[in-house]
Amino acid sequence: MTFLMLSYPERVEVFRRAFAHDLPDVPFASDATQVDPQSVRYLMTWAFPDNLAERYPNLEIIFSVGAGIDQVDRTSIPPQAKLVRMIESGLTSLMRDYVVMSVLALHRRLPAYLELQRRHEWVNLEFTWADQRRVSVLGLGELGRASLDALKPFGFQLAGWSRSPKNVEGIRSYHGPEGLRTMLAETDILICLLPLTQETRHILNAELFSQLPRGASLVQVGRGGHMDQEALLAALDTGHLEAAFVDVTDPEPLPADHPLWSHPKVILTPHVAAHTRPDTAAEATIANMRLILAGKEPNGLVDPQRGY
Ligand code: NAP
Ligand code: GLV
Repeated sequence: MTFLMLSYPERVEVFRRAFAHDLPDVPFASDATQVDPQSVRYLMTWAFPDNLAERYPNLEIIFSVGAGIDQVDRTSIPPQAKLVRMIESGLTSLMRDYVVMSVLALHRRLPAYLELQRRHEWVNLEFTWADQRRVSVLGLGELGRASLDALKPFGFQLAGWSRSPKNVEGIRSYHGPEGLRTMLAETDILICLLPLTQETRHILNAELFSQLPRGASLVQVGRGGHMDQEALLAALDTGHLEAAFVDVTDPEPLPADHPLWSHPKVILTPHVAAHTRPDTAAEATIANMRLILAGKEPNGLVDPQRGY
């Protein structure tokens, strides 16, 4: 029952040491050419190797190296195998930091001040007190909830939207299409932390942007496929949206001449909002392996029907 990890050497070494120390009875391998494919029950990877089901006929669990699982072709998962996404404190803390950084920058109108600086203009822009600023998150999962928790001390009016109803202290929570409309109409800074599924593809489109109040801003840290990029550019150019932090795009990287690279109202980062941290991810994976070996459900099990 080998655990095969396909990742870069530094990350693999951290996992190898952690497995040797904490789960010495589970053989750990990282070289696919040196392992008996029949023995591979657990596979950790970002993208799937070709012919997954034929190559590893006894696969039970596929662990995604990352929080998202949209990068894999789920139709190639062998019928008996389950997919588990990454939930680990290092990645969550990076996302929390990025969201706080971008929300504060948008709250204090940093993109507009950067443009004024470029033009050598010393101008006081209007500002809003934090307790009058409405900040909402699409997605009340691991990352959406952690980001909202980190924003609480600033005193913003916080809200979140999910598929199922939620009751989160200090956060107005909404669900379903009607809930989304209501939340958007009361949002000044919108953060996207949804998984990419059939239902959420291109959710950030012209219609959604038009439901935000004029002058609202966006933090796009979900997946490139969530957003109609032309619609964002149009909403920024008409002034309906004031500014956006964009960490994920479609494609990645963007072509060199794409307008998002140089738009004065956009701060673009190259899909760096969060990364898996090797030591905390190894701890989380070993805790999950213990659950699996005890016949229990691992944390982050993907529901094939919901698609996340
Ligand atoms: P998660 O725990 O699975 O949470 C997903 C949330 O989205 C849940 O609250 C879920 O609602 C909600 N949701 C899903 N489909 C929905 C729909 N159709 N309508 C309304 N709500 C819906 O995921 P996570 O760990 O927080 O990660 C979220 C995403 O962040 C990842 O999938 C990935 O796309 C992105 N990400 C980006 C980076 C980066 O560097 N930019 C890094 C890591 C992750 P329920 O609670 O009702 O199920
Ligand atoms: C990164 O984008 C991840 O999904 O972990």
